[in-house]
Amino acid sequence: MRLLLLGPPGAGKGTQARRLTERLQIPHISTGDMFRQAMAQGTPLGLAAKSYMERGQLVPDDVTIGLVRERLGEADCERGFLLDGFPRTVPQADALGRILGDVGRPLDQAINLEVPEKRLIERAVGRRVCPNCGATYHVVYNPPRLPEICDVCGHPLRQRDDDREETVKRRLEVYYQQTEPLIRYYEEAGLLKNVNGDQDMDSVLEAILLALGNR
Ligand code: AP5
Ligand code: MG
Ligand code: ZN
Repeated sequence: MRLLLLGPPGAGKGTQARRLTERLQIPHISTGDMFRQAMAQGTPLGLAAKSYMERGQLVPDDVTIGLVRERLGEADCERGFLLDGFPRTVPQADALGRILGDVGRPLDQAINLEVPEKRLIERAVGRRVCPNCGATYHVVYNPPRLPEICDVCGHPLRQRDDDREETVKRRLEVYYQQTEPLIRYYEEAGLLKNVNGDQDMDSVLEAILLALGNR
């Protein structure tokens, strides 16, 4: 299956993508995770992305599209994939359509996670991530067994640099301006499924699988 997850910052895209890709046995492609990894490694891509991400702005389309084009060309994507956080602008969506059209493997579905704004801020600000293994927690909704320590690998957890409240608000503004129009874009393409993301994590997964007709 070739899928993408749409939704504002903190909607639960990463949380659901990890569960879905395990269930469906397809790769999880998160442009945000790819940029953060490049930043941690200090690569030219990471340096290019850093100043945008810190300010809650989008990384320029040409950089992002090039990165995704390369990733979709890898062998594991032949079975399908789940895109998380891409596309985020109309030019990115157009480019994705061309990339997939060129190889005759169009998108099957776009899942849109709907979550009210006040919940989004609470989710992002309470998020903790493991810089070692990538596991994600929430101080209230998904706390680690020991405070601030990763359950999986024992490494101290941290807050993402862009999860401070002011930056989350900026990311939301950017979302409304540049990404929300994609809901209409995929609706018009007949590919959109709206899912209520304002329920517990297991119920959201069930709702997505139901929308995909794959329970
Ligand atoms: P990215 O990493 O994609 O961030 P985002 O879209 O802002 O989304 P988040 O990762 O913050 O939220 P999420 O929906 O994944 O939520 P999560 O599951 O973690 O992008 C970061 C930056 O990279 C961008 O600002 C931009 O600069 C750049 N970038 C990335 N892609 C780009 C692109 N295509 N073009 C240009 N620039 C790009 O959940 C959040 C929290 O809530 C967690 O703590 C979780 O435990 C908790 N939670 C999740 N689900 C539930 C639930 N059902 N109930 C209670 N708590 C929940
Ligand atoms: Mg994410
Ligand atoms: Zn860990």
